[in-house]
Amino acid sequence: MGRLDNTVAVVTGGASGIGAATAVRLAEEGATVATMDITGGVDYNLDVRDEAAVKDAFADVVARHGRLDSVVHCAGVAGGGPVHLVDESEWDRVVDINLKGTFLVDKHAAIHMLEADRGSIVNIASIEGIEGTEGGSAYNASKGGVIMLTKCMAIDYAHRGIRVNAICPGGIDTPLLMDIIGSPGVEIYRDKMHDRHLMNRFGQPSEIAAAAAFLVSDDASFMTGQAMVVDGGFTAGFRAGLLQQMGLV
Ligand SMILES: NC(=O)c1ccc[n+]([C@@H]2O[C@H](COP(=O)([O-])OP(=O)(O)OC[C@H]3O[C@@H](n4cnc5c(N)ncnc54)[C@H](O)[C@@H]3O)[C@@H](O)[C@H]2O)c1
Repeated sequence: MGRLDNTVAVVTGGASGIGAATAVRLAEEGATVATMDITGGVDYNLDVRDEAAVKDAFADVVARHGRLDSVVHCAGVAGGGPVHLVDESEWDRVVDINLKGTFLVDKHAAIHMLEADRGSIVNIASIEGIEGTEGGSAYNASKGGVIMLTKCMAIDYAHRGIRVNAICPGGIDTPLLMDIIGSPGVEIYRDKMHDRHLMNRFGQPSEIAAAAAFLVSDDASFMTGQAMVVDGGFTAGFRAGLLQQMGLV
């Protein structure tokens, strides 16, 4: 018996990385999973910035499967730069996909969940929504917004049986991160990013999927409004280099 037997889940960004791993994990735990993404190989091809498409897709999921229990919203993009160099169009692209997309997906999920007074929404934010980073600008601002939207929704819907949480991943081995750290000229960034994870590695998409499966399940029945950090220790604090002196290596 799986934790998510007889439930219906939507996973956005389901074509790649964290979303693809989450769709697999939720299905393994017993859920019927509908995937959404702007690119192929999913149940619903849509742009999360397109409200009519998002609305229709959620309506179709409920019409086909009769219910909606959980949503893990993973669709997102990287982008930004130092503010004085960021074009308005780049700002709009990143904030629209990451923040407005979260609003639209969560809105149409909530409309259906309110009909049943039941549901769990998980938004994939980022540790970069908690901490600033060099050139973070649009991305970090969008992810900070996702965390705040999550908290506001948790307040609005807790008494209606709907839990809303966020996950803040550290660096995860997906095309989104690998494209950035594989670019020429960013070797210092890649190495420092890597080393700040206390576990000396990037995370795997399956490790975020495991956290998402927990949050949507009844095991997290008393959790709402939280931004759960899953980052291999990235945000735990500063490691100065005394491990050898302390006999720990
Ligand atoms: N990889 C990391 O290190 C990391 C760290 C923290 C947070 N995140 C967040 O995790 C989420 C998943 O990212 P990932 O690392 O799996 O990246 P990914 O690029 O592998 O997957 C992102 C998916 O989102 C889809 N997508 C992008 N724009 C879309 C749109 N407008 N409409 C619908 N779908 C769209 C893409 O097609 C892709 O399949 C993102 O929100 C990202 O910001 C990633």
